[in-house]
Amino acid sequence: MSDYKSILNKIHGTIKASSDKGKVADYIPELSKIDINKLGIALLDNEKNSYSVGDAQEKFSIQSISKVLLLSLAFSKIGDALWERMDVEPSGDPFNHLSLLELENGIPRNPLINAGAIVVCDILLEHLEHPKADFINYIRAISGDNTIDYDLNVADSEKKTGFGNYAAANLIKSYGNLNHDVDSVLDFYFHSCSVAMNCEQLVKVFYIFMNRGNCLQENNYLNVSQVKRINAIMLTCGFYDEAGEFAFEVGLPGKSGVGGGIVALLPNQFCVATWSPGLNEKGNSKLGMLALEQLTTQTGLSIF
Ligand code: DON
Repeated sequence: MSDYKSILNKIHGTIKASSDKGKVADYIPELSKIDINKLGIALLDNEKNSYSVGDAQEKFSIQSISKVLLLSLAFSKIGDALWERMDVEPSGDPFNHLSLLELENGIPRNPLINAGAIVVCDILLEHLEHPKADFINYIRAISGDNTIDYDLNVADSEKKTGFGNYAAANLIKSYGNLNHDVDSVLDFYFHSCSVAMNCEQLVKVFYIFMNRGNCLQENNYLNVSQVKRINAIMLTCGFYDEAGEFAFEVGLPGKSGVGGGIVALLPNQFCVATWSPGLNEKGNSKLGMLALEQLTTQTGLSIF
């Protein structure tokens, strides 16, 4: 068995010293205030042993990582009917691009780009009685952590500046692929992106995708086939136009967010989360990717 504790300490020490940390996202004003020097890593293994280092207990905005959680909740509600509203192909485009949406008649390429998550939010508005409360309660239930919550300042900040998402939602609506009004869908979408968690909480939430649909609390929400599909989508679409590079360097399904978080997992083995707010030019955490590359290289463990 790998000595995760000393491997994580070693990686943290090496990475912390990097001079090029990338650039903090500033298109959502509230995110630009974050200290670029933060660095946390947490790992939870299949025997529920947890390891963490650095700023792993400090909360940050999970942003697009929440798209996996939206997807899993919608998938558990409506099953394969989901794929009538969106595709499962990598986009090869940045997360916020609109061009493919127009070419493909308002059917988003996959659920992990902004357009796809907006359609998932529309579906959830139909199937949840109290969408915002039910979504956060789902996250709390699968992790057993009732302290996880929305960051309303971040939600508000994005609502005021999210013009690209308004454009995407309007375009999707014009093709008839949104049933609710744009404002209600985006209000839910912006809230979902604003969920704040630390690395230790993220691995508890994502344990369900590492553990065949059984969450940390031993309850089953997704069947094995659904988890296979969600992990496949994370591998092929979780890092937008850098999904190939992430698979090449790290070799795990995972998901990033512009708050600087990344969560990744090796099915039946471990779930790992990193937080370093500086992003590379593709919008993925620069040092987070490096840390995960070192983890799979030093342990010799990846899906390949
Ligand atoms: O909609 C947005 O642009 C953000 N709330 C989320 C983008 C994001 O995290 C992309 N991930 N790397």
